[in-house]
Amino acid sequence: MENAKSVNSSRTTITELMIPSYANFGGKIHGGILLSLMDKVAYACAAKHAGTYVVTVSVDNVEFKKPVEVGELVSLHASINYVGRSSLIIGIRVIAENIKSQEVKHTNTSYFTMVAKDEDGKPTEVPGLILESDDDIRRFLEAIRRKEIKNAYKGLLDDAKTSIDIDQNLYLLQNERCIVKRDRDMESLW
Ligand SMILES: CC(C)(COP(=O)(O)OP(=O)(O)OC[C@H]1O[C@@H](n2cnc3c(N)ncnc32)[C@H](O)[C@@H]1OP(=O)(O)O)[C@@H](O)C(=O)NCCC(=O)NCCS
Repeated sequence: MENAKSVNSSRTTITELMIPSYANFGGKIHGGILLSLMDKVAYACAAKHAGTYVVTVSVDNVEFKKPVEVGELVSLHASINYVGRSSLIIGIRVIAENIKSQEVKHTNTSYFTMVAKDEDGKPTEVPGLILESDDDIRRFLEAIRRKEIKNAYKGLLDDAKTSIDIDQNLYLLQNERCIVKRDRDMESLW
């Protein structure tokens, strides 16, 4: 791994002022605006490390804990948490600052998986990652753990999709806020 690079060499921050045109009908900032900024910072961070074009493959842990207001200054701090052969996991910490009071809130931390592509559009190997601090090591280990959990979860989700027998599981809907009105059930009423 002679071309390995440190986490610090690709650390990237984007800061943007939240203007009124970014607001939704409730007056708060659209989730999509924040997602777009997160994708941009993930791209810049991953491309810096890879030295190639990169694409977004998956996004994990997007959960907006607090609304972002018009007029706040949003900073997105991105760093490489993990590298595989062609994939990179970027951790993004999103902070919103009230400019007048300088109060700062953490709105979310999310993880973007990106894949480096060569000029033919094929996945290509990325440099290894030099872990220089305990935080770097912890984030790399956490990313491995999340990958394992995600793979197990994906298997369960695939099973859930293919193996549900609707009639046998209808009772599960009894306490849910839904009304079953299938054509089939309607016919039996007639
Ligand atoms: C990402 C992509 C290149 C993977 O293609 P593929 O034929 O599955 O390639 P591979 O099997 O060689 O996988 C390449 C890497 O992606 C990783 N990968 C593939 N699918 C993944 C997923 N759903 N989640 C996380 N990682 C994934 C693989 O683990 C592998 O990582 P590694 O090289 O570090 O071991 C392909 O699916 C693609 O181009 N998708 C579209 C991406 C895009 O256009 N994004 C923009 C959003 S519109």
